[in-house]
Amino acid sequence: MTDHIVAGAQKHLTGIPLSVISQGAEALVFKTNVHPYLTSPSLANKEAFIIKYRPPKPYRHPKIDASITKNRTIGEVRFMSKLQKLGVNAPAVILADLDNGIIWMEYLGTELPNGDVSSFKNHLWYLERNKEPSFCTDDDVKLLCQEVGKLIGKLHLNDMIHGDLTSSNILLQDGQPLLIDFGLSSYSGMPEDKAVDLYVLERAIDSTHSVYAKQYNEWMLEGYEQIHMDKEYGKQGTKKFVEVSRKLDDVRLRGRKRSMLG
Ligand SMILES: Nc1ncnc2c1ncn2[C@@H]1O[C@H](COP(=O)(O)OP(=O)(O)O)[C@@H](O)[C@H]1O
Ligand SMILES: [Mg+2]
Repeated sequence: MTDHIVAGAQKHLTGIPLSVISQGAEALVFKTNVHPYLTSPSLANKEAFIIKYRPPKPYRHPKIDASITKNRTIGEVRFMSKLQKLGVNAPAVILADLDNGIIWMEYLGTELPNGDVSSFKNHLWYLERNKEPSFCTDDDVKLLCQEVGKLIGKLHLNDMIHGDLTSSNILLQDGQPLLIDFGLSSYSGMPEDKAVDLYVLERAIDSTHSVYAKQYNEWMLEGYEQIHMDKEYGKQGTKKFVEVSRKLDDVRLRGRKRSMLG
């Protein structure tokens, strides 16, 4: 199954070595050591790059499929460029082939000592496994969760919604969190949309780090609040935080009601 998709990608990427690092519902993600156009010796075989490929979906009408692929690719590239401009940590786009659903981007994230991808999820698991049970009071973890909250706060203060916030879509590079995976991202100033973004992450943390989830989520919201209180955003920041946090209570309540109904 994957072989045939890899062959499809390879058709548009002749001579580029591709190793699959992830296969999702929408895209195949490759790691490569080749830059699309630079050939300087410092780059050759040293640096790593990511190629995200959205293959054609056989169950969609070809014309509709081509237009969906193109739009999602444009959307993701545009969102990423905007993040770059705003200084919100995320990979830089290097090149995009919009018609073929290909995005070539920077490879980010420092691997964990055990070789795992340094996602926020793996990082927390790693700490949970390798530290004392009392580690939850550890300042490093607290700071990290707060940094994640600040990162999301920055995104929301610019009226940008991630749309798929999970602890796998947050990577860590040199101890600093960064965002990836903008296939479902959008723009909105509505507190409700921001609250849903936060709620999705809260639930993701609940399900992957049940023991410490409550603490992690609290720290994250602290960071989210802190960035809103930053002088740079003035009174608007405070107002926005209050609105989102009020909405978050509503969204949580709705979520609980829904889960009670089964
Ligand atoms: N720029 C990047 N640098 C390093 N790893 C990445 C990068 N982009 C994606 N990945 C890896 O590939 C995985 C899948 O990519 P993602 O964009 O999240 O696609 P999907 O929509 O399939 O989840 C990520 O969880 C991460 O491990
Ligand atoms: Mg993802």
